[in-house]
Amino acid sequence: MEVKTSLLDNMIGVGDMVLLEPLSEDSFLENLKNRFDHNEIYTYIGSVVISMNPYRSLPIYTPDKVEEYRNRNFYELSPHIYALADEAYRSLRDQDKDQCILITGESGAGKTEASKLVMSYVAAVCGKGQEVNKVKEQLLQSNPVLEAFGNAKTVRNDNSSRFGKYMDIEFDFKGDPLGGVISNYLLEKSRVVKQPRGERNFHIFYQLLSGASDDTLKKLKLHRDFSKYNYLSLDSAVVNGLDDAANFRTVRNAMQIVGFMEDEVQSVLELVAAVLKLGNIEFKPESRCNGTDESRIKDKNGGLMDEKQETKSLFLMKSVLERAFSYRTVEAKMEKVSTTLNVAQAYYARDALAKNLYSRLFSWLVTRINESIKVTKTRHKVMGVLDIYGFEIFEDNSFEQFIINYCNEKLQQIFIELTLREEQEEYVREVCLWFYISVFNMLYNQNGILAMLDEECLRPGTVTDETFLDKLNTVCAEHQHFESRLSKNSKFLTDHSLPHSCFRIQHYAGKVLYRVEGFVDKNNDLLYRDLSQAMYKANHSLIKQLFPEGNPAKVNLKRPPTAGFQFRASVGTLMRNLQTKNPNYIRCIKPNDKKASHIFTESLVRHQVRYLGLMENVRVRRAGYAFRQAYEPCLERYKMLCKRTWPHWRGPAREGVEVLMADLQVPAEEFSYGRSKIFIRNPRTLFFLEERRRQCLQDLATLIQKIYRGWKCRSQFLLLKKSQIVVAAWYRRYAQQKKYQRIKSATTVVQSYTRGWQVRREYRKFFRANAGKKIYDFTIQRIMQKYFLGLKSTMPSMSPIDKNWPARPYLFLDGVHTELRRIFHLWRCKKYRSQFTEEKKAVYEEKLEASEIFKDKKALYPSSVSQPFKGDYLEISKNPKYQKLSSAMDEKVLLADVVNKINRANGKGTARIFLLTKKSVVLADQKTGQVKASVPLPDLTSVSVSTQSDGFFALKLKEVRDPSVKGDFLLSSEHLIEIITKLHRIGATAADREQLNIDISDEFLVQFKQDKVCVKFIQGAPKNGNSVSCKRKNNRLLEVSVPTTA
Ligand SMILES: Nc1ncnc2c1ncn2[C@@H]1O[C@H](COP(=O)(O)OP(=O)(O)O)[C@@H](O)[C@H]1O
Ligand SMILES: [Mg+2]
Repeated sequence: MEVKTSLLDNMIGVGDMVLLEPLSEDSFLENLKNRFDHNEIYTYIGSVVISMNPYRSLPIYTPDKVEEYRNRNFYELSPHIYALADEAYRSLRDQDKDQCILITGESGAGKTEASKLVMSYVAAVCGKGQEVNKVKEQLLQSNPVLEAFGNAKTVRNDNSSRFGKYMDIEFDFKGDPLGGVISNYLLEKSRVVKQPRGERNFHIFYQLLSGASDDTLKKLKLHRDFSKYNYLSLDSAVVNGLDDAANFRTVRNAMQIVGFMEDEVQSVLELVAAVLKLGNIEFKPESRCNGTDESRIKDKNGGLMDEKQETKSLFLMKSVLERAFSYRTVEAKMEKVSTTLNVAQAYYARDALAKNLYSRLFSWLVTRINESIKVTKTRHKVMGVLDIYGFEIFEDNSFEQFIINYCNEKLQQIFIELTLREEQEEYVREVCLWFYISVFNMLYNQNGILAMLDEECLRPGTVTDETFLDKLNTVCAEHQHFESRLSKNSKFLTDHSLPHSCFRIQHYAGKVLYRVEGFVDKNNDLLYRDLSQAMYKANHSLIKQLFPEGNPAKVNLKRPPTAGFQFRASVGTLMRNLQTKNPNYIRCIKPNDKKASHIFTESLVRHQVRYLGLMENVRVRRAGYAFRQAYEPCLERYKMLCKRTWPHWRGPAREGVEVLMADLQVPAEEFSYGRSKIFIRNPRTLFFLEERRRQCLQDLATLIQKIYRGWKCRSQFLLLKKSQIVVAAWYRRYAQQKKYQRIKSATTVVQSYTRGWQVRREYRKFFRANAGKKIYDFTIQRIMQKYFLGLKSTMPSMSPIDKNWPARPYLFLDGVHTELRRIFHLWRCKKYRSQFTEEKKAVYEEKLEASEIFKDKKALYPSSVSQPFKGDYLEISKNPKYQKLSSAMDEKVLLADVVNKINRANGKGTARIFLLTKKSVVLADQKTGQVKASVPLPDLTSVSVSTQSDGFFALKLKEVRDPSVKGDFLLSSEHLIEIITKLHRIGATAADREQLNIDISDEFLVQFKQDKVCVKFIQGAPKNGNSVSCKRKNNRLLEVSVPTTA
C-alpha cells in the first residue's frame, strides 16, 4: 500500500506556514527554499496554496495523484493544488456553495498553468458520461484556442497571457459540468503592431505560418517566411521548447472540438492573414494642389496589395482602402468635414485598424466559444476560475501595464479583504490593510487616476498626454504612493530616475514607472469612422460582423466608452461577482527571473513574499489560533492518544475531542472549542500532539505488524495443517490401499492355498501318490496275512525245549517275528506247565531249587539235571530187606539211597544207607539195615560241598560237648545234588528252624570228635578210572583228588 503523507507526516520543512516555528521572514523563505529544493512546490498558509513555479514538468499530476487527492481532507495529504481543487469542488457539490479560484502572482509565476490544473482536476473527478465528457472536452479545449490568440512570448514568460480571463464553469445538482461562460479582459492589442525587444507577437501568427499546409498558405496568399511581415518581430520568432507547427494542429483540433465550423475556422485564419498583410501596406506621400501632402498606398513590385489581389487580401477594393487611409471625415451636427491624412497619419490609421481588427477577432472568438459552451439546462452551481495577467514591470510601461497592474492591485485588495475579513478585525485594522486601501483608492476612486484620464479624454479642447500628466501632478501631488518630477512634491524634483514625461506609482508589488505617452489615445481607443465604414464594405461576412458601427444605416454619433471606463466597469462586475462566491486562493511565486528550474533567487522570492503579504497572512492566521481543525478530522487524527477515544468514539466528535484534550492534559489556555472546530493557539501544542501521535503510530504499527504476522503465521500454519491433513489423508488412504491390497492378495493366496488344500484333501484319494500308499498298505496287509497264515503251517512243535522257529520272511517283520516267537514260547510253556500233576510239579520245584543252589557253582550240577529225582532209590517200603529199617522210621522217608561214609582215619569210604525224613537224617548199615546214626534236622547247621564234580558233602552239626557224638559226617553220594536240594527244601519249609546253610567251597573244616580236619579238593589226573580218591595226608588234612572233567 502506498504510504500517504499527511500535512503533518514526513513533511519536508513545514507544509503549512502557519505552523512555522519560529516565524520570521527568513525562516519563511528558508522553508520555501527547502521545500522547493525537494520538488515540493506547494505550501499552505492555512487554506491558501502557495505555488512555486518549477519551470519543468514534475510527475505530480498523474491520474494516480488525482485519485489520491480525491475526496480527502484538505490537511490529510501533503500540500497540492489538487487538494484545493478538491476542497472547492466538494464544497460546491456537497454544500451548494459557489466557488471561485483566485490565482494571483507575477507574470510567469504559473497562474495559467495553475488554472489549467484546477480545471483538469475538476474535469477528472466530476461525473462521467458521453454528454458530460463532451462538455468537459469543450471547456478544456477552449484553452488552447484562447492561448493561441491571446498569449505571447514576453521576457518574463514564453507563454504569457496577454488578456485577463475569468471562466465560470457551471454544474448541475449532481456536480456534473453543464457548460460555462468565459469573460475576457482587455487584450494587450498594441502587441499586434509592435513588440518590445525580445518578445513576440501573439502565437497564432507564428503558428499559422509554420503549421499551415502549403495549400492553406497559398489560399491565404501567405509566405512561410516570417521576415516577409512587418508585424512579426524577427529576433525572437523562434522560441525554445515551443513547437509552433504542432501547436497549430492542436489549435485547429481544439477549435473543431469546441464547435467551430470549418468555414468559421477558415474565416478566422483569413482575418489573421489580413492583419499580417495589413502590416505590409506602405504609404508614400503625394502632394496635393492645396500644398498639403496626402498619403497614397505604395505599389510595391510584387507587393501584397496589387489590384488583382485586392479582394483576396482584405476583401476590399483597393480604392476603398486607399480612401480610408487618406481621409478622415469628422461629422458634427449634420456636417461632414473631410481632412486628408499625411503618411504618418496613414500609418497610424493602418496600425489602429490592425489592432482593432485583431482585438475584435479575439472578442468574437470568446463569444463564439461561449456560444458553444453555453448552458442550456438549468445550472445549479458555479465555479469561477480567474486567471488574470500578472503584475508586471517592464522597462517601458504604458497604458496596458497600468491597466494590468491596476487589475492586480484590485485583486490583491480583494484577497486581503476576504482573507483577513475572516480574521480578527482589530489585527487587520492595525497591521496591514491601510496600505492597500490607500493605493487602491488613488487608482480607483471617483478621483482616481483612471477617472481623471477619462475626464481628460472627454474634456473639450486639446487633450494630450501631457495635459493628462499635468492634471495628475496637481491632483495626486500629495499622495504618498504617487511620484512625478513635476508634482508639487519637491522631493522628486531632482530625481533623475524619473523622466519628465513619466509618473511613478508605488504599487503593492513594487514601484512602476509609467510613460504617459499614448495614455489618452489608448484610453480613447477610437477608430476613425472612415476605417470602420470601409471595413463594413468588405466582402467578408466576419469582417462585416466585427465592424457593425461601419454600417451607414446606423450612424451613431455618441462617443463610445473609453477603454479605461470599460475596463473599470468589467473589473467592477468581476469583483462583485467574486464577492458572492467562496474564494480559494492560489498564490503563485516565481523562483527566478531566468525561467530556469532549480534556481531559487532569494531576493526575488523575498520581494514577492513581501508584496503578496504572505507573512501578514500567516501572522493573521496565527494571531488568534495557529491551527484549527474540524472536530471530526481532529478526533480521527488523535483518537489513538486516549484510551477512551480509541479505537472508536461513540458520540459527538466534539465531546470526543474534549475527552481527548482532558486526557492529554493540554493546558486550557492552549486551545478553545469553536462551534465546529477546535482552535489551537500555539504550534508547539500541535507539535506535541503530533509527536505523541507519531509515537503512538509506531506502537500501533508494531501492534498491527504483530497481529498481522501472527495472523500470517497462523493462516500459514492452518494452511499447512490443512495441507498436512490432506497429505496425511491421501497418504493414509494410499498406505491403507496398499495394505489392503497386500492383505487382499495375501488372503487370496491363503484362500487359494486353503481351497487347494481342501480340494486336494478331498481329491487326495484320487491321487496317484495316495494309490501308492493304499497299494502299500494293502500289500503290507496281504504280506501280514500271508505271513500269519504261513506261520500257522510252519509252527514248531509244542515242546518248550524245541528251539525251532521259522525263518523271518521280511526284515520289517523282525520285531513282530521275535515278539511272536517270545509270545508263542511263553504260551507253549504255559500249555506245557498246565499238563503237570502235583507230584511232577513238586519234582520240578525241586529241580528248580537245585538249579538255584548249584547252577554255575558246582561242576557236578549239569550232569544231575537230566537225572530225575527218584527219592527212594532203595524202594525201602517194598524191599523186605529193609523191612525193619522202614518200620523204625516214624516219618515218611523222603530219600533213601546208598552213600559212602568217609572214614576219617584213612579217607576210605564205607557204604551206608542214607535216609531222609522231614525230621531227621538217618545213616544205617547197608547190610544189616542197622541204624548207625540219626541226626535230627535241627542239629544240622550247614552242609559243605566242593565246587567240583565230586559227590562229597559234609553235614555239620551243632557243637555239643558230648563225647559220644563222633562229630560231623563226611559223605559221598552219586545223588549229591538231590540230597542237598531236599535237605534245603525241608529247611525252607520248616518253620521252627533256621535256614540250612549250604557252603560251596574247595576247602572246608570238618569236626571229627575233638579234632578239626580240613578237607581239601584238588584237581588230579584220572587214576583208577574215573573215580575220586580221598587220602589222609596228615591229622588235620584230608585231600580229595577229583579228576578233571574233559
Ligand atoms: N506547475 C507547473 N509545472 C511545470 N511548469 C510550470 C508550472 N507552472 C508554470 N510552469 C512553467 O512556467 C511557465 C509560465 O507559467 P504561466 O502559467 O504561463 O505563468 P503566468 O500565467 O503566471 O504568467 C509555463 O509556461 C510553464 O513552462
Ligand atoms: Mg498566464
